Amino acid sequence: LASGSLLLPISCQSRSYAKDAGSPQVRPFTQQLRIPPVLSPVRSDDTTDYYEVTMRRATVEILPGLKTEIWGYNGIAPGPTIKQRRDRQSVVRFINNSVGTPTSVHLHGMASLPQYDGYAEDFTNPGQYKDYIYPNNRPATLWYHDHALHNTARNVYMGLAGLYLVYDDLELGLPLPKNEYDVPLVIQDKQFSSRGSLIFDDQGEKSQMGDVILVNGVPWPNMKVANRKYRFRILNGSASRSYNLSLSTSEPFTIIGTDAGLVGAPVQVSNFRIGMAERYEVIIDFSKYKVGTKIVVHNDHPDNNIEYDGTDRIMQFEVVRTESDPSSIPPNLRDYQPIAESLAVRTREFRYERSNGLWVINGKTWDIQRFDANPQLGDVEIWRIFNNSGGWFHPIHIHLIDMQLLDRDGKPPFAYERGWKDVFYVGENESLRVIGRFGPNTGAYMSHCHNTVHEDHDMMNQFMVGTGGPDPITTAPAQPLP
Ligand code: C2O
Ligand code: CU
Repeated sequence: LASGSLLLPISCQSRSYAKDAGSPQVRPFTQQLRIPPVLSPVRSDDTTDYYEVTMRRATVEILPGLKTEIWGYNGIAPGPTIKQRRDRQSVVRFINNSVGTPTSVHLHGMASLPQYDGYAEDFTNPGQYKDYIYPNNRPATLWYHDHALHNTARNVYMGLAGLYLVYDDLELGLPLPKNEYDVPLVIQDKQFSSRGSLIFDDQGEKSQMGDVILVNGVPWPNMKVANRKYRFRILNGSASRSYNLSLSTSEPFTIIGTDAGLVGAPVQVSNFRIGMAERYEVIIDFSKYKVGTKIVVHNDHPDNNIEYDGTDRIMQFEVVRTESDPSSIPPNLRDYQPIAESLAVRTREFRYERSNGLWVINGKTWDIQRFDANPQLGDVEIWRIFNNSGGWFHPIHIHLIDMQLLDRDGKPPFAYERGWKDVFYVGENESLRVIGRFGPNTGAYMSHCHNTVHEDHDMMNQFMVGTGGPDPITTAPAQPLP
């Protein structure tokens, strides 16, 4: 195909990651972006909103004219968005109806109370449900997704992922774009058979790569925008692919948020890298474009072990109307203080490696009997994360706490990474230092690579905060459906 052809994916399928003939071709930018629906509570009281989400299989049309089975929260992928006010508690009943496999739901970015937190072995079997309790202690763009032992990659890939947004008055009081101008974008790559079914193939426990880019479940969508500023909450919900995003017009992104909420001050960048499970919030200003202008979000692969195909483009914005823009980007977004290194009471080292065909941390695979760290409640620690796995990058996720990136190979982090984060992109042969304060809960929490294929096999370990806490498996076992 000539370059610039509108038919994607380009047929370069003989590479190591695509054994299949390639997904059926889709004309990009022909379907309109959809926004996942916001879930309404089933009831509310003075302190708490109660939600219900049913995990089930559903058949949907993703590629034109073809039927695709997904496993979705409420039968849709991404699942419904839960939007919650800060400091109001939410109780979410996750019902395993017809996905036909044990599940465990993790709210990525906030610990559940009591302790269960979507633990890998804390299964909700088909025919069971579990109530998860979330405190919503700070505004942020979070996501909930499956975390079942050894099957997380497949379960999330089949659709079990959704957004969870916490907001508060302080943030709502800022003049940032709001409501329909505040748009979530969940980016995921998928591979389809010629008949439209999702192909899950982890290439021998290495990576699940797709050649079709979905944004909010739509292949290479178009989004109609007004010529004004928009806030986008971008989540990389892919199994194994990271992205390096830029705009075809060279318009900059203004980064206003990271994994755990707004940054201290906005940062302008021409492009940024987003690993699996990372979130970046950006403002794009379309005000200088005439009606009719089309702006494509490009992806330059940051990883040298990943091949180009149709994934070099993500989506398109089409300016369709003029509008006045009351929004602005304040120079200070929140009070953000770097944690002083001198507060750290110890430094720990975690080596993410490939060893004898296994994905290991400090030479070991996942074992629920073993704890690799035991910070005391309130301790500030520095974790040094090494990646010596030869040609792979690993986005490392530490449950429970928000941390800050001190340095990468001794050099300052990228400007856009300076914020509270729960996932850190560790490129090949890199060493990162991250700092955080352990709390507010005691007990057992997991830490792992968020290439979910690596996580499943078995690049995951756990730490214990304090001297104990509720057991993540037995505290609140799943209940049978009435
Ligand atoms: Cu987003 Cu332990 O996971
Ligand atoms: Cu990894």
